[in-house]
Amino acid sequence: NAQERLVVAIDGPSGSGKSSVAKEAARRLGAAYLDTGAMYRAVTWHCLDAGTDLTDADAVARAVREADLSISTDPGLERIAIHGTDVTTTIREPFVSEAVSAVATNLEARAELVRRQRAIIGEQPRIVAEGRDITTVVAPDAHCRILLTASEEARMRRRGLQLGGATAEALQRQVVERDAKDSTVTNFTTATDGVHTLDSSDLDFEQTVQAVLTLVERAPRA
Ligand code: DC
Repeated sequence: NAQERLVVAIDGPSGSGKSSVAKEAARRLGAAYLDTGAMYRAVTWHCLDAGTDLTDADAVARAVREADLSISTDPGLERIAIHGTDVTTTIREPFVSEAVSAVATNLEARAELVRRQRAIIGEQPRIVAEGRDITTVVAPDAHCRILLTASEEARMRRRGLQLGGATAEALQRQVVERDAKDSTVTNFTTATDGVHTLDSSDLDFEQTVQAVLTLVERAPRA
């Protein structure tokens, strides 16, 4: 049967497993995948690379508006480039993570990225988009909206596995601090009306993907 248009919006804090779960759900749904966090990271890298003063909100907003950003929406191909430079792996480095709140807390920069994210979503017949404000701001009209949560303990566990090595306490501080910074502009800790909260604390990866697919299946289509 012909595939209907489908937009799935997933928000959640770091360490919720959001990115890998959203990407796998997209694959199984035969949908595109948009990692909006990667866009925030890429424009942050661009500001750092261009020597933009991150404390100058106007300069940051201008740099974001002028940024030539291209991002793969193929769940099987992770690639993001800015002004032709592939920054796919660089944007995961700590120096970017530490600077990203300068962009994430800049309302003009957010407005520009939201505009671009809506355009990307609009171009795709089927897409899973993931971030912090997708269910509330970017795609409040998505067919299925999910807030993926996990207890602090579960998130730390996953972070520890991801980074391997560093002490749990330092990691915990990092993640809690970044979420606190992030939540000054985006509320991703409590679900608004019509958003399904999915707590993955006691679910493994496959169970979480299945739970997402079940929510998508049950969602009424427009
Ligand atoms: O999900 P992530 O760690 O790659 O996100 C990077 C940063 O961007 C993080 O500080 C939160 C922010 N972000 C945001 O404010 N809004 C989004 N839609 C996605 C990410």
